[in-house]
Amino acid sequence: MTSSNSQTKKILITGGTNGIGKEVARILAIKGYHIILTARNEKLIKEVIDEFSHLNPELKYSYYLVDFLDLEKMKIVSKEILKDHPIIDFIYMNAAMIPKKRGEQTKDGIVTSMVVNFLSQLILFETMLPALKKSETKMVLHTTSMSTNRKFSMTELDRIHTFGRIKSYAVTKQLAAMSYYYYSRYNLDVIFKLVDPGVVYTKTAIGVIPKYLRFIGPLAAVFLSNPKKVAKDVVALIEREDPKQIALYKNAKLIKHHMIYQDLKLQDEIITYAHSLLGEK
Ligand SMILES: NC(=O)c1ccc[n+]([C@@H]2O[C@H](COP(=O)([O-])OP(=O)(O)OC[C@H]3O[C@@H](n4cnc5c(N)ncnc54)[C@H](OP(=O)(O)O)[C@@H]3O)[C@@H](O)[C@H]2O)c1
Repeated sequence: MTSSNSQTKKILITGGTNGIGKEVARILAIKGYHIILTARNEKLIKEVIDEFSHLNPELKYSYYLVDFLDLEKMKIVSKEILKDHPIIDFIYMNAAMIPKKRGEQTKDGIVTSMVVNFLSQLILFETMLPALKKSETKMVLHTTSMSTNRKFSMTELDRIHTFGRIKSYAVTKQLAAMSYYYYSRYNLDVIFKLVDPGVVYTKTAIGVIPKYLRFIGPLAAVFLSNPKKVAKDVVALIEREDPKQIALYKNAKLIKHHMIYQDLKLQDEIITYAHSLLGEK
């Protein structure tokens, strides 16, 4: 699609069609970054590009259609992105979902939250890492969640299909967060920034409210954080040099790593588990 000159920073953003990811993409589009988006909904991504093109008539963009529920397609599309973008400055892993119901699984019998929130992301990340490492910036950002600050043991994964929607989301977000701590150990030249956005008024947050209480949705907007505000914080982190190679942030402020993130053995086990689910050694 659009080419970019050497001054233009390229950022790959997942989940850029809604909520926090869309607001981050909007700010960066206006600032002249080349935004590379993945999306599952063609109509929506075209509307987003159209909207951003009005804000910046010289918008530099690329987009790739892929549903994170489809691991095989994810592998193919990740390779396509790498081929089209052999050098990339930033990766912002942001897409995630809360399952619609307890125990929801893909046709391969893996819970949907595991596939979207962890495995697909891992495929894309591992494929794109060489492109990131060729850039000067080499920065990975990931939207994590306060729900990941919990005790966890690998044996829980045997029962994940019995977990409620929120617990299943929390566990898989925890796996994703911990995977970046694993990668940080082996990629000391790469900067990793995990962002906990708090509770933000988006489609995902509204999905947590039980159906019978959904009417309070618009009211919740008053009390919850706003995706535009969170996006400003994320962009501040994108543009800021921080001394730490891997760090956790809230409102663009550095906070202490959760204890669980530091468990090296668990990090190793999580990555081995992911590769075994993906049928890789
Ligand atoms: N909102 C909160 O309170 C909160 C709190 C903590 C962490 N977070 C994290 O913030 C991140 C962004 O979420 P958000 O709150 O901004 O929610 P959102 O508005 O629902 O956005 C989620 C994004 O992920 C995409 N996505 C979901 N399932 C997908 C799939 N199967 N394939 C491809 N893309 C998919 C969505 O695509 P569509 O546009 O097609 O739906 C959307 O662009 C997530 O990682 C979430 O865990 C949010």
